[in-house]
Amino acid sequence: MKKIIITGGAGFIGSHVVRRFVTTYPDYQIINLDNLTYAGNLANLRDVEDRPNYRFVKGDITDAQFIDGLFTAEQPDAVIHLAAESHVDRSISNPIDFVLTNVVGTVVLLNAARKHWQGAYPAHRFYHVSTDEVYGALGDTGMFTEETKYDPHSPYSASKASSDHFVRAYHDTYGIDTVISNCSNNYGSHHFPEKLIPLAINNIKGNKPVPVYGKGENVRDWLWVEDHARAIDVIFHKAASGETYNIGGHNEWKNIDLIRLLCNIMDRKLGRAAGESAKLITFVKDRAGHDLRYAIDATKLKRDLGWEPSLQFEEGLEKTVDWYLANEEWLQDVTSGHYQQYYEEQYTSR
Ligand code: NAD
Ligand code: DAU
Repeated sequence: MKKIIITGGAGFIGSHVVRRFVTTYPDYQIINLDNLTYAGNLANLRDVEDRPNYRFVKGDITDAQFIDGLFTAEQPDAVIHLAAESHVDRSISNPIDFVLTNVVGTVVLLNAARKHWQGAYPAHRFYHVSTDEVYGALGDTGMFTEETKYDPHSPYSASKASSDHFVRAYHDTYGIDTVISNCSNNYGSHHFPEKLIPLAINNIKGNKPVPVYGKGENVRDWLWVEDHARAIDVIFHKAASGETYNIGGHNEWKNIDLIRLLCNIMDRKLGRAAGESAKLITFVKDRAGHDLRYAIDATKLKRDLGWEPSLQFEEGLEKTVDWYLANEEWLQDVTSGHYQQYYEEQYTSR
């Protein structure tokens, strides 16, 4: 595999995947295809943007003509597809954008792969990056396996489930070499502060209320983003065609416990008295259709391909806080302008 288009490479996870591939495989050419929505930020890739094996192309995955032209011009060997609308709360306010980008955009890419790779499918690969949210919600026990029935509840997860089905349909119908991975909640550097952990870090730092939905009893399974990028690397290179792998951290936290841990870390890092930041915790109106619990069984990935998470959560959270405190300018840039309006709309009436 020599030339790879990575879609959504300017976003949170995409930028870590681009960095990993550009630095680990100097003989690969990596094309980062991203249309730079509010979530896309080229500053996420400053450290690799001058590498000879990296290129950025601005473009929209829903634009079929543009994508066809890109495949004609570049003749990519593979696509690693991360571009998406990714925030559940935004999908509740504006579902149609999620259908367009996540469903239509994925089908546009699959159509280009079908047309341009015809007759040479085994030499090409379409890797679709998806989420554990397609499986719905768990009660107090159990875990999602690759066999768990799809049962999405939010417009976001419904759009991702739909895109997964299209990827499998293109494998089964046209023989395209596809792989899918479904991952749990990521955390780490360059995470846009609309998501729980970076939003809480930003608010604690600015002495603003930290909004916790409902009673804070929802459970998420957190994985360090660089471990996700490593899993994508392993699956991309080693998985058999048509396979699906779950990726997770074996690391379940109730939201309220996570936020309390984060407050303790921030107290230490900011030189505040113990318990000071936790006073900012504010319980607000719950998210509509809020999935109670996610937990991933990643046994198959460990058994088949030898991948395991590398980092303990407490250590990863410390590293994450350190990154946000050291990158004040990045945080300022992404929280100015439109972010303020988004924040008002999401949180003032809660
Ligand atoms: P993100 O919102 O940070 O980044 C998405 C990127 O896609 C942005 O750079 C954006 O500009 C780009 N994009 C959006 N619409 C586009 C379009 N029409 N054309 C081209 N580019 C477009 O998302 P993320 O959190 O990094 O998630 C990346 C992928 O991983 C998504 O597919 C998401 O569903 C999946 N995922 C995320 C998590 C998580 O915890 N964040 C967990 C599992 C799976
Ligand atoms: O599970 C994987 C998914 O994880 C990805 O597919 C999504 O792209 C990603 O956004 C993430 O979805 P969540 O909805 O779990 O992440 P979020 O950070 O939005 O919320 C995490 C939990 O925290 C969830 O239970 C809702 C809660 N929450 C969130 C926000 C933004 C709060 O209590 N307060 C908040 O302000």
